[in-house]
Amino acid sequence: MSANPITLVIFGASGDLTARKLIPSLYNLDRKGRLPDELRIVGVSRTAFTDEAFREKLAPATKEFVKGEWSAESWTSFADRVHYIAGDAGAAGGLDALKADLDKAEGGTPGRRLYYLSVSPELYGPIATRLNESGMASPPSEEAWRRLVIEKPFGKDRATAKALNKTILQHFREEQVYRIDHYLGKETVQNILVFRFANTLFEPLWNNNFIDHVQITVSESVKVGSRGDYYDHSGVFRDMFQNHLLQLLTFVAMESPARFSAETLRNEKLKVFDAMPVYSAGEAAEHLVVGQYAGYRGEKGVAPDSRTPTFAAVEFSIDNWRWRGVPFFLRSGKAMKDRLSEVVIQFRCPPHLMFPLPPGQMLTCNRLSICVQPDESIHLDFQTKVPDRETMRLASSDMEFHYKTSYPDAPIPESYERLLQDAIAGDASLFMGSAEIERAWEIMDPLIAAAERSQPEEYAVGSDGAAGADAYLARSGRSWLSLCQHG
Ligand SMILES: NC(=O)c1ccc[n+]([C@@H]2O[C@H](COP(=O)([O-])OP(=O)(O)OC[C@H]3O[C@@H](n4cnc5c(N)ncnc54)[C@H](OP(=O)(O)O)[C@@H]3O)[C@@H](O)[C@H]2O)c1
Repeated sequence: MSANPITLVIFGASGDLTARKLIPSLYNLDRKGRLPDELRIVGVSRTAFTDEAFREKLAPATKEFVKGEWSAESWTSFADRVHYIAGDAGAAGGLDALKADLDKAEGGTPGRRLYYLSVSPELYGPIATRLNESGMASPPSEEAWRRLVIEKPFGKDRATAKALNKTILQHFREEQVYRIDHYLGKETVQNILVFRFANTLFEPLWNNNFIDHVQITVSESVKVGSRGDYYDHSGVFRDMFQNHLLQLLTFVAMESPARFSAETLRNEKLKVFDAMPVYSAGEAAEHLVVGQYAGYRGEKGVAPDSRTPTFAAVEFSIDNWRWRGVPFFLRSGKAMKDRLSEVVIQFRCPPHLMFPLPPGQMLTCNRLSICVQPDESIHLDFQTKVPDRETMRLASSDMEFHYKTSYPDAPIPESYERLLQDAIAGDASLFMGSAEIERAWEIMDPLIAAAERSQPEEYAVGSDGAAGADAYLARSGRSWLSLCQHG
């Protein structure tokens, strides 16, 4: 007996994300035999396409963007699953054709449906509303299900995120909603949890007794490109901090959940956010450095007098027993020297060093670096004796693990593969809950407001960002670190 049909409906099917990420990821999952046989994919947007024309549009994009092999045979076999229905999903009656198609394809069986909102954020609420009005949000029976995947950005501050959650949750139950942060789909981000909670080695040291501070860097080498208009209204806080950097922080800082499930993970992440202060206006200004890359104001779509930060560095604290007194320094920017995402744990120095150091030499205290991208790896920096020297000499050595050498036959997949597979399987562990999103905005709102009041410092394209960020750390005798770049 064949299983009940599953349909993945992609709203925004003629758009960039569908062509560059969603379809290439689905194609790759199909090639690996990981899509259920009964899965159909139906694209929806306003532009008219036949099924054939839609497939023809997607084939070259998939070939270009797929992470892995592409072959005409496997594409043809995958493309059979792909269909297209034109419609204005935000308009009254705009989903009629889709509803008719789904009802016909399901043939009265309890069909299972995943609605993926890959449209501009203003349409998230209206489409959720239309789905409900058309009777497509609630599953008709226990065997059927309806899930809603929502792209980022989810709101632009706490108030808008709260309002969007309210709208969505009028039509779908929380457990039906899958809010995307594609960083959580990255293997190395998930590996932070494995590294911490499947090993005993580091967990006893993972606290304020042994850790001096934590740094999280997510830098991009690209400029705003063709997204100047979007970016100028967003800036680095909304684009990177509220989602990716804060999610990385929770993975580093959370307590071990009792099991790997959406509910337990979300609870632990929320506890971290709850222990983080919401800065007053004055505190926000004190804990923040903002920068803008040289030439940003001349980019297409950017206001000539824009003060939107393209770089920021922020100091956070987590006021609980584990982390009290350990600063978390986060920085992110565009047009920087490297494309890099890295977490550095700087351990405390030994309380007493019996080895004499040559004049001017400082001891490098233990560091652990988790490189999320591009060279997915872990580095542990420790002291060794330099052999065969007249006097005792110490030097730092790096113990390294690299995904590409340890797993040469398993290339790191596109994060959307993981997320799509999980959403189809009903595992929401790597998706964000409504409460944590709202709290993350609450933490960011005063920083965004403080940035709006400040004049960003200009930094050179291809640099490490605003020099003020170096000065900020130097005040406490620290500096920005990277072990990844050695990888
Ligand atoms: N692109 C990325 O790399 C990326 C990365 C992270 C997150 N995201 C998020 O993903 C979402 C989509 O981004 P995108 O870059 O793919 O945007 P996009 O290229 O502008 O695509 C938007 C899509 O929405 C469709 N659309 C617009 N109005 C519609 C309506 N009323 N009914 C049905 N379809 C409608 C458009 O097609 P028609 O004009 O034919 O209707 C188009 O297919 C956004 O929320 C974005 O923030 C994108």
